[in-house]
Amino acid sequence: AEIEKYAADLPIPEVMPPDGADPDTYTIAARQFRQQILPPGRPATTVWGYGSPAHPETFRTPSCTVEATWNRPVQVRWVNQLVDGKGRFLPHLLPVDPTLHWANPPGGVAGRDAHPRFTATPGPYRGPVPTVTHLHGGTNGETSDGYAEAWYLPDAHDIPRGYARIGSFYEEFAKKSEQAHGVPWGPGDAVYHYDNPGRATTLWFHDHSLGLTRLNVYAGLAGFYLLRGGPCDLEDGVLPGPAPRLGDPPGTRHCEIPIVVQDRSFRPDGSLFYPSSRADFDGFKGPYVPGSDIAPIWNPEYYGNAMIVNGRTWPVLRVEPRRYRFRFLNGCNARSLILKTVTDPAAHRPAPAAFAWWQLGSEGGFLPAPVRRADLLLAPAERADVIADFTSFPVGTELYLINEGPDGVYSGGTPGKDFTAADARTTGQVMKFVVEPLTAPDPSTPPEQLTLPHFEPLGAAHLTRRLSLNELPSARLPHVGARQVLLGTLDAQGKPKPRGWHDPITENPAPGATEIWEFHNFTTDAHPIHIHEIQFQVVDRQPLSGGARRLPPMWERGYKDTVFAYPHEITRVKVRFGKAGRFMWHCHMLEHEDNEMMRPFLVGSA
Ligand code: C2O
Ligand code: CU
Repeated sequence: AEIEKYAADLPIPEVMPPDGADPDTYTIAARQFRQQILPPGRPATTVWGYGSPAHPETFRTPSCTVEATWNRPVQVRWVNQLVDGKGRFLPHLLPVDPTLHWANPPGGVAGRDAHPRFTATPGPYRGPVPTVTHLHGGTNGETSDGYAEAWYLPDAHDIPRGYARIGSFYEEFAKKSEQAHGVPWGPGDAVYHYDNPGRATTLWFHDHSLGLTRLNVYAGLAGFYLLRGGPCDLEDGVLPGPAPRLGDPPGTRHCEIPIVVQDRSFRPDGSLFYPSSRADFDGFKGPYVPGSDIAPIWNPEYYGNAMIVNGRTWPVLRVEPRRYRFRFLNGCNARSLILKTVTDPAAHRPAPAAFAWWQLGSEGGFLPAPVRRADLLLAPAERADVIADFTSFPVGTELYLINEGPDGVYSGGTPGKDFTAADARTTGQVMKFVVEPLTAPDPSTPPEQLTLPHFEPLGAAHLTRRLSLNELPSARLPHVGARQVLLGTLDAQGKPKPRGWHDPITENPAPGATEIWEFHNFTTDAHPIHIHEIQFQVVDRQPLSGGARRLPPMWERGYKDTVFAYPHEITRVKVRFGKAGRFMWHCHMLEHEDNEMMRPFLVGSA
């Protein structure tokens, strides 16, 4: 039966409590629990999420928000507690494809050695589940980055003999980290140190296990990490607030709210649905050929049929006639969002906007100046820090946040012209705002009068790398029509040279180097490309066939860590690398990332 909308309030993530008196030391575990995501009266959903073991009430998805201060180090012990009450490992909630190049504990040797593909019968893997947490957008060094092959299993007592308990980079990073910080990593955990040198901004953390990220994130392993203060933040009181704080009494009015939009599908019993075969997607029904490059369970993309916001389907936010600061995150696996507020959720698409957003920030903090936008295009993992102004709406007004992005792959363009907007009855709706009486005056500065913090662009680049985004038919089974996406380089003739995760490193910038990375997109999809450890600037875009270069729109002129590379175009970004270390760059459509639109890169020599 259709899920009723606007039946529950928007959950506002609380602040993650630290372990004790030290405000910057945390233990954060991943656990399995039940949460009411569907409307009241419907079954709860078994999910995975993060929380503080000392405060069991904090476990939820999205998790509580970590609040960090510029240049003040934070330590997090990330614990994999995907175990039951008796200390036995919990299998995955969702179908794990063991034929991918993935973390692969039964392979016995982790990570890089698990390639070529696992050759056993390809039923879904039911063993203990690896996790490793990435702070997306942070600059914290390789040992704290959440490298996909630095995963670890829970410290369960029934891990089968011969299973790898850690990925191939776990031990190296554990040793280096222990040397630098003197804090040992334990069985089933990793201790990460975040120095928070970046600009004040909206970061988020999520699981990043090799070949499992799509499933671990879909199950719920994600949360916000807000970096505040320093020379690139605004003073308190200028922007709408307050934000949630530790120990806020229930019912506190918050005017600064992180909002993560995700798509999911649910079974009638409330459980999460994720496809367990590729047959529905491109018709590949097997049989599985050992060593083949066609993964039988993995799907090239997945789009849910329900929208959840901060872990609730189609919620309601009661607002006052004042300004709000929303920190939007597209937390979907593959779906691109085009968010808009309208007065009628069922109106034809594209629908006229009820008000325009003022966008103040992107992934890397404040933009050079506020930008007015009728709608917000957000790729998976992109963030938009915006002001929503409800001041002029009479009490009782109902406004709807809708989504005009497509129910499928986005290739650029506008809804109603280049593609059909999402189903206006389901995924085309997101949440509702109801205007209630004003309880106190709004002291915040109107966005059009705001002066944003000083914006320092990057200096000249000294090297250009030509990189390719590719979609290829199967090399082994060309007749089945299944395809795979890969990153790569270009050869001297400008022909793409696709490369897999396990191929030798080709991107090896020097520490401190400023470079241009060109993403040559030879596919028909817009891929959101994310580079770890840095925030880049978008330089321009140009058709692959040559022709004029296009400057990025104003809202892409701040610092970013994820950018759309549109089909048949070159997208250029300017990057300044920092300290030496091993990191990753990848497509943030999580299904693409998992198989294997992801490449390692190495800053410096080790
Ligand atoms: Cu949010 Cu490497 O990803
Ligand atoms: Cu992609």
